[in-house]
Amino acid sequence: MERKNIAFYNHEFTTLDNVRISPLDRGYIFGDGVYEVTKVHDGRCFALSYHLDRLYRSMRLMQIPATIAPDELTEIHGVLVEESGIRNGSVYLQVTRGTAPRTHTFPAGIQPNILMFVQEDNPHKQELAASGVKVITLDDIRWEHVDIKSLNLIPNVLGAQQAKKKGADDALFFRGDELMEGTSSNVFMVRDGIIWTRPADERILKGITRQLILTKVAPSCGVTTIERTIDREYLAKAEEVFITGTTTGIAPVVQIDKTIVGDGKPGPVVRKLQERYAGLMAEGLP
Ligand code: PDD
Repeated sequence: MERKNIAFYNHEFTTLDNVRISPLDRGYIFGDGVYEVTKVHDGRCFALSYHLDRLYRSMRLMQIPATIAPDELTEIHGVLVEESGIRNGSVYLQVTRGTAPRTHTFPAGIQPNILMFVQEDNPHKQELAASGVKVITLDDIRWEHVDIKSLNLIPNVLGAQQAKKKGADDALFFRGDELMEGTSSNVFMVRDGIIWTRPADERILKGITRQLILTKVAPSCGVTTIERTIDREYLAKAEEVFITGTTTGIAPVVQIDKTIVGDGKPGPVVRKLQERYAGLMAEGLP
């Protein structure tokens, strides 16, 4: 058995190729489920309790009953990481409403299906954190509850693919004139030495990395943060822009569509944040 291939499905540890999912799983049929991605740093999960809090919130808002306790999920994360032998990567966890004959309303008495596996980091992401990323801008065509980390990611998938096709690394979503977030990242800008980011309401995902920057990393760097909406004109005045996420870490944005940000190189504020964030990861966070 390839160790890296270890998976957990419902009540058992198995391997990814041995997981048998019914075609009637509502995740498969309707995208009726939620997920989390937790960073594995140096063989340990980082900020797992934050991810689990968000998972239970997503389940509550989707009215998916919690049939497993956070402690048990924490333990399973630990086993998966250890058994996989993966030192740096992420754990993917998804919970679907369950398996039942196809009908839109919630079938009575079904049990949620829980799937988990570990993935290694993509080394390309680290290069991007060092060199900076190019992004395109797109209209946000998602629904108005993207604070729920649901499986419905079509606009995100299409947006990321469109960015790739244009030689960019991500796309920033705008609702009208207002900046929202990336396809799998939150977005920040620096102006007058202050860090600005959009308040986390229903129209963006309240990213864990974002939260850690606002509550721990920026304060420890002595940098002020303000949560305020950002429009195109304000964004154009940014000295620095960066995106954040579990798999992205903190990545400087050096180009937005055809416009170069600052001097086109990662700026001093983002560098300082990256350094502190690396320190926080090395310390570990439950
Ligand atoms: N995505 N916004 C969106 C739409 C996201 O999908 C993500 C993360 C983030 C950043 O959140 P966090 O810092 O908690 O990872 C923001 C994960 C990594 C994914 O879909 O793979």
